[in-house]
Amino acid sequence: MTTSYEELNVESNYPTPRIPPLAGLCDFEAAQRPGLSVAQCVEWHKRHHYLFCRLHGILTARVTAEPIYELKTIFSHHAYLFAEHATAIRTRVSEMREPPLGLEEVPHSALQLLCDEVLCAPTTEALLVGAYTVVSELCRSLECYKETTNPLADAPSVRIVRFASFELREISNVGYDALLGVRALSGERSPQHHSRDQLEEWQRLLQNCLLAAGGVSGQETQQSQELTPIFSATPYEFDPVPKRDARFHDSYNGGVNPEAFLYDERFAPQDKVLMLFYKRLREIDVPEMMASIIHQTPGKPWKFYRDMSRQLWDEARHAMLGEVGFVSQGLDWSKIPINFTWSLNLNTQLTPQERHAVLFFIEQGLMPRNGKRYEWEVAQASGIPLATLFQDFDWADEVLHSQIGREWYVPDFPNLTAALDYGDRCWSKVMSHWRRYLEQG
Ligand SMILES: [Fe+2]
Ligand SMILES: [Fe+2]
Repeated sequence: MTTSYEELNVESNYPTPRIPPLAGLCDFEAAQRPGLSVAQCVEWHKRHHYLFCRLHGILTARVTAEPIYELKTIFSHHAYLFAEHATAIRTRVSEMREPPLGLEEVPHSALQLLCDEVLCAPTTEALLVGAYTVVSELCRSLECYKETTNPLADAPSVRIVRFASFELREISNVGYDALLGVRALSGERSPQHHSRDQLEEWQRLLQNCLLAAGGVSGQETQQSQELTPIFSATPYEFDPVPKRDARFHDSYNGGVNPEAFLYDERFAPQDKVLMLFYKRLREIDVPEMMASIIHQTPGKPWKFYRDMSRQLWDEARHAMLGEVGFVSQGLDWSKIPINFTWSLNLNTQLTPQERHAVLFFIEQGLMPRNGKRYEWEVAQASGIPLATLFQDFDWADEVLHSQIGREWYVPDFPNLTAALDYGDRCWSKVMSHWRRYLEQG
């Protein structure tokens, strides 16, 4: 194999410039790697795609009923990243002579069982163990793809695979740290729903699924064996009731009307900024609600799930903007009652489409001058730069969300007015239930 121009020893009038060859992709040796055929690449990509989609679905499904606030935000973030990587693979596969794409097919039944088991994990600890085991195996397979394929011929794949494995390493580290945190917590307070032995037996099942599938990549020998479902023996049931950890108290307290305070001219902008931080932090109820729409609306085009997950993640970020706002002011936000009746009521009283209608109706209401722009102006008037920055980005995100609503909710109606009217009606229907909570104490 000739691996450089120097080795060629050909008389040339033109010396080879000392500039990285092959567009800086790789050296001549790597560029002559036998690599994989287009069909083999597609097969491999489809396995990654399947796991990214399943991981996205698994973590999304757990946002609502997971009590620990930090885990809600981590699941929101990681689910969104999985959706982005799945999207990148879909685009790449569509470039590889592959219509019909067959991206919705299950690449191997053992990978399906692996994911079903993780989805059905009965505790947060088991969920973290399972999900982040899949993440690290997926990461290993991505690395292996990168080392196997021809880096010049398959450069567009290498690019997305490098990016995915880079992010997965970070995701894996965060997941592992979260697991340690949860284990420390459960040692202290929560009851165990499974013994250590059970968890180990379950981890062996996960490993056996991987062996049966020939690894995530399918490049290893497939060790056929009897796989008996453990947690997925009982089908998964989504829990739509939002749960919160002990830092959230008096969650039915709907006594605060932030808008009344924000528009009242008697209050100073500095005080109003605290109400903005409260409004942002309270937004953790939006991921709790949106997760239910995503989970309970099957059969949509993939971009629906990607876009909705982006919005879900933005809303989790908005909550964290509020959290950071309080921290920046030296205030303990856990002293403030943070209401969760919005996600609770929507998730338990409305259909997924009705919930989407309410979300769109509310977000459309943020677009006029007295909506997000007003909040940003209040923050500016306060002279608190961090509040201004946060409201600036919050506003930009909400404009994006309004567009997402126009793409995925409005087309179900004859026109925008009809879509808004429906959202208004659904929202009123929910409001009428509030009295019942009051009567029930
Ligand atoms: Fe938001
Ligand atoms: Fe939003």
